[in-house]
Amino acid sequence: MVASKGIDRYPGGLNLTGRLQSNGTELKINLGLKLENGKLIQAHGGSILHFDGIFYWFGENKAGRTKPAKPNGPALNRVDVIGISVYSSRDLLNWKNEGLALRGGDGAGHPDLAFRGIVERPRVLYHAASRRFVMWLHIDDEKYKTARLGIAVASKPAGPYIYRRSFRPHGEESRDFTVYQDDDGFAYIAYSSEGNRVMHLARLASTLDDVVPGFERALVGQSRESPVIFKCAGVYFLFTSGCTGWEPNRAEVFYASALLGQTWRSLGDPCVGGASARRTFMAQATFALPVPGSPGRFLLMADRWNQERLGVSRYIWLPLFVVEAPTAERLRAMPAERERSRVRRGDRERVVKPAARAVPADAALGLDVVVRWHHEWDVQTLDVLPQPRSRGQPL
Ligand code: GAL
Repeated sequence: MVASKGIDRYPGGLNLTGRLQSNGTELKINLGLKLENGKLIQAHGGSILHFDGIFYWFGENKAGRTKPAKPNGPALNRVDVIGISVYSSRDLLNWKNEGLALRGGDGAGHPDLAFRGIVERPRVLYHAASRRFVMWLHIDDEKYKTARLGIAVASKPAGPYIYRRSFRPHGEESRDFTVYQDDDGFAYIAYSSEGNRVMHLARLASTLDDVVPGFERALVGQSRESPVIFKCAGVYFLFTSGCTGWEPNRAEVFYASALLGQTWRSLGDPCVGGASARRTFMAQATFALPVPGSPGRFLLMADRWNQERLGVSRYIWLPLFVVEAPTAERLRAMPAERERSRVRRGDRERVVKPAARAVPADAALGLDVVVRWHHEWDVQTLDVLPQPRSRGQPL
């Protein structure tokens, strides 16, 4: 039924195959690296738009040669901009290569998309009123100094997307980011700013292609990036990585009762199981796809970067659970989590300080987040832990 090779057996990467069933409809996921024609999937730093029964997986196409950034260290290793790929699937198992949703490079007609720049982390929102699809991007120069957001629009989900412009939201730096559209239609953005030391949060305009004035500063001084937002039982969660370039590091998840106007509190590192849990299973989360019909169940998409050959970087998808009480495994992980962990950044060894509050859910929240390593997993895995009951008034 399930065949996969795991991280500990194959440290170079992972082919994960899983099956997932929801509401009687079988959804299957297969994260084998190859499409039918044998080509590697090129959808790094990706995200998924679920539209009209089809999943669209957008990501960076890094199929070119990795250019080492010596003497600056591998964090600035890069591939010339090719564009944003899109793959479509009805079942999360069979992926059709839809080509480039947004074409990059010198011939693409806009300096932001030039070969020597940076075009990362596409996220797509559907704007129902205009029936347009709005793609948000991290746009940068090769040294990550410009730190801007880019906007492209299309009339069909897979594109082609027409690049419009880039800007600094609220005049502030924006590097890793995500956008999140809430049930009421309002959409929000979280972006790493101020030298990646502070996470900014803001609301998007109703047109979904701009921010409204005013932003909030969160996780001040904590240097978190690669934000991933998901929601369960009225609580918002912000899954983050540390700032170590392509090197994996310790994940940390925060929660709040609203995306704006609330203090984000830490739940610590939700990863458990396997030797590499403290380094997010040697990966960096990029998106959480809600499992249809299963509250509190998400597919956590992560990139296992290969910084010497970015184009062969792998993808890891794991079940992410929101649960009502910390699991035994998660409680056991707490002491280890508080230890200082060392990660390499470039040639220098850097000590990453643990969060001040690396503790599980406080009583007021009554929810916890857990991402458990699975060499193999299937639909039953999603039922291993009870789903959280829906609650009237969270927090
Ligand atoms: C990571 C970031 C990636 C990429 C990389 C470059 O921290 O999440 O998207 O920008 O840095 O070093």
